[in-house]
Amino acid sequence: MVDDGVADGDGRPPVAVVTGGASGIGRATCARLLADGMRLAVLDLDGDAAAEAAGPDGLGLAADVAEEADVQRAYEAVFDRFGRVDVQVNNAGIHGGQAATLLHTTSVEDYDRIAAVNSRGVFLCSKAVIPAMIRQGGGHIITVASVAAQIVFPGKAAYNASKGAALMLARSIAVDYAAHGIRSNAVCPGYTETPMTRWRMEIPELRKEVEARIPLDRVAQPDEIADAIAVLASGRMRYMTGHALNVDGGWTAL
Ligand SMILES: NC(=O)c1ccc[n+]([C@@H]2O[C@H](COP(=O)([O-])OP(=O)(O)OC[C@H]3O[C@@H](n4cnc5c(N)ncnc54)[C@H](O)[C@@H]3O)[C@@H](O)[C@H]2O)c1
Repeated sequence: MVDDGVADGDGRPPVAVVTGGASGIGRATCARLLADGMRLAVLDLDGDAAAEAAGPDGLGLAADVAEEADVQRAYEAVFDRFGRVDVQVNNAGIHGGQAATLLHTTSVEDYDRIAAVNSRGVFLCSKAVIPAMIRQGGGHIITVASVAAQIVFPGKAAYNASKGAALMLARSIAVDYAAHGIRSNAVCPGYTETPMTRWRMEIPELRKEVEARIPLDRVAQPDEIADAIAVLASGRMRYMTGHALNVDGGWTAL
């Protein structure tokens, strides 16, 4: 049970918002948080899949986290339904696909879109919940960054830069709002088998190349990242804030 900032003691289960909850790591996180008894709101480009992920008593909303108007509309609906947000999981993200590669071949449009979803999205969704968390006396913002926030994925300059920005937003929130009881941590997954990475995982040579860099010798499954997010969301480890938690099979230890 979350004990971060559940200040009004209304006795009901804590409320979590998961962005990008329709697929992959976000979907596994929703399943885990539901199993832990939390109430869920899920924001995703795919509203139907978001509603499914939110569970029968949850709220699924179609929203683009990079668009201020979408985010405002979505959080109005979240606060109308639940009145509070205890845990915000900033998970929605894009990789830029095979088009965004080396810096000089990345289009300005691709660069801007990757930055808008992976970094501005974290900014907008955090901005939407922080005033309520201040009023509640606390909360926890968990941002799914990436090991790419700390080490370079070759040929992914735009993605690496966007994740570096997401991590620094997470740290900035930790420092600026600690006095309000708000904690902010980042989870940094290594390679995880999801629709985002499946094309690469399905090519045996590429899979081998990726796994050769991972001491545990395999990529992660989404529920292994969701486990880390759920432990943070539970309110355990509550002295931790401003931290980047690598869940990467030992990749960054190499
Ligand atoms: N898969 C990996 O190897 C890996 C590694 C490190 C970090 N990550 C990060 O984990 C997060 C989840 O990735 P995943 O692998 O589960 O990807 P995924 O593609 O399976 O899921 C991403 C979800 O985000 C949603 N989404 C994308 N853009 C959105 C937007 N603008 N607004 C709202 N929703 C949007 C998609 O519709 C989708 O449901 C991302 O932030 C990603 O960068 C993934």
